[in-house]
Amino acid sequence: MSSFLQAIIKTTFLILIIASCNSDPTSPSEGDDDNSDDNNDEITEYICQPETESTDYSLYPLGQDDYPVGDVMPYYDQESETFYLHYLLDIWDDNTNDRHPWYGFATTNFYDYTELLAGELIGTSSNACDQDYAIGTGSVVFKDGTYYGFYTGHNPTFPSECIKTKEGVMLATSTSLSNAFSKREDFPTIFAPKNESYDLNDNFRDPFVYEVSESGLYYMIVSARKEINGEWKGVLAQFSSENLLNWEYEGVLYDGGEDTFFMMETPEIFELDGTYYLLFSDTDTRHVYYRKSTSVHGPWEKPSDKNRFAGVGIYAARTASNGNTRYIAAWTHRKGGESDYGQTLWGGNLVAHELYKKDNGDLAVKIPQSVLSYLDSEEISIKIFEEYGNVITDQSSDKNFVLNASGEDDFSSVTFNPLESTRYKISTTINYSASQNDFGFLFGACDVTNDFFSLRFIPNQNIISLETRSRDDIDNPFRAYNDVPINISPGENYDINIVVENSIVVVYVNDKVALSSRVYKANGTHWGIYSDNSDVTFENFKVTTP
Ligand SMILES: *[C@@H]1O[C@H](CO)[C@@H](O)[C@H](O)[C@H]1NC(C)=O
Ligand SMILES: *[C@@H]1O[C@H](CO)[C@@H](O)[C@H](O)[C@H]1NC(C)=O
Ligand SMILES: *[C@@H]1O[C@H](CO)[C@@H](O)[C@H](O)[C@H]1NC(C)=O
Ligand SMILES: *[C@@H]1O[C@H](CO)[C@@H](O)[C@H](O)[C@H]1NC(C)=O
Repeated sequence: MSSFLQAIIKTTFLILIIASCNSDPTSPSEGDDDNSDDNNDEITEYICQPETESTDYSLYPLGQDDYPVGDVMPYYDQESETFYLHYLLDIWDDNTNDRHPWYGFATTNFYDYTELLAGELIGTSSNACDQDYAIGTGSVVFKDGTYYGFYTGHNPTFPSECIKTKEGVMLATSTSLSNAFSKREDFPTIFAPKNESYDLNDNFRDPFVYEVSESGLYYMIVSARKEINGEWKGVLAQFSSENLLNWEYEGVLYDGGEDTFFMMETPEIFELDGTYYLLFSDTDTRHVYYRKSTSVHGPWEKPSDKNRFAGVGIYAARTASNGNTRYIAAWTHRKGGESDYGQTLWGGNLVAHELYKKDNGDLAVKIPQSVLSYLDSEEISIKIFEEYGNVITDQSSDKNFVLNASGEDDFSSVTFNPLESTRYKISTTINYSASQNDFGFLFGACDVTNDFFSLRFIPNQNIISLETRSRDDIDNPFRAYNDVPINISPGENYDINIVVENSIVVVYVNDKVALSSRVYKANGTHWGIYSDNSDVTFENFKVTTP
């Protein structure tokens, strides 16, 4: 079928259908009946209400028995060439009487995850007088045939007759990454050091253990709070050990410098081509930040350019490398009542990106190569539902859209029929010549001009933000749901990959920054592209599925 179509429409409601959407005979979707969305021909009204949340996830898995995934602790096993991703399972006082036990996945490609057969790897105590009545994040280190799993013992009954400290660092060991760990009763729980102005009651958690090769010593950093020159700050307390069993306090590794964090949670130190990175999650903004240094011991300096490479959807992130590629893994939160307007909840789906070092030493993220190849196996057709304003659909290939809206209050947009796949990738290259306001993508469209969520490129703020308010409400002064800073300039290409799996939407821009968001309204609804007071081109526009 011919795909030629050109339409410049002003404000008129019009339904346009591009069948099969492809003039290139070598394209995978050409002549392939499985790819044509015949059902969609019938759609005459906007579909914009979210469907019931599904548990059918593979790219962004849920945990054991479809419970949400909490903090992720990635570990690469050289022998099996497999990434083990231990994580806190989001169960609390359920019928197993467990509070955030450790479970785990194994993966080699970050799109296919296997639950570890052992199930629970480190469980919680049923005795309310034990430090590990609930447990929290930690880290695994290998020495002489044994995996040492340092974890947070967290007792929510604090303060009580028997519990004087809410948190401490404990140890369990195992001879295999996929088997249950045995708690080491002989290991004295580590608490915040006394007489050092630490918070001795609470806030001592998330140990990360690493070996420093020059000295042969192991170091442990722990998230804590301490009074420094009269000010309470989130700090990373440091300990050293020769044997992983006896630990000595070594002072504060980092106190935030000129910044004051309430807590720098789930810290990690790793090296990339001669630069050391200190990664942590800020309890207040829910952002992952990092510092860099030429030494594993610091001093730590801020990134040279933007202060982060992602938005709020990778909380408690940690990383692991197979020697060639480093991956960062975390959870993208759920929202209360499975509603886009519900409050942000703890735990969600596991999301991983590739993490790398830019020329200026700053960190950047991109879609893992294996995930990209996996998602690119089949191109599916898209159908225009409505166009608004000055829109040009390229004649030679219907995959290019020019959305001109340079006049004041000018707006152009194109909406597409819902995609029927559970997981897919939208890709295009954006290039704009002028912008007084914003442009980008829209999800969950109830109409073509106002009532939708927008993924906004905002050049005059140099940010990309995901906005869950309708257009006429955007200027109200509170924060967008999710955003990430990036320099946006005219005449440059921005390569976009948007991966959608049910209600998880992960956006990659220029292989540099990522936004992972919960968008219940994204699935099975009308979507599209828009330009507000901007002249923008969307080139090589396509949707692919595994
Ligand atoms: C997403 O849509 C697919 C098919 O349209 C459906 O099977 C699935 O349950 C939906 N998931 C969510 C989270 O709405
Ligand atoms: C800490 O200070 C208390 C008094 O505030 C003192 O009794 C105790 O001996 C000190 N402990 C150490 C380890 O210095
Ligand atoms: C769209 O805008 C571009 C850049 O400003 C311009 O070159 C082009 O002629 C415009 N096209 C239409 C149809 O307005
Ligand atoms: C962006 O688009 C304009 C107009 O089509 C083109 O002249 C320019 O070369 C493009 N920029 C890049 C980096 O491709």
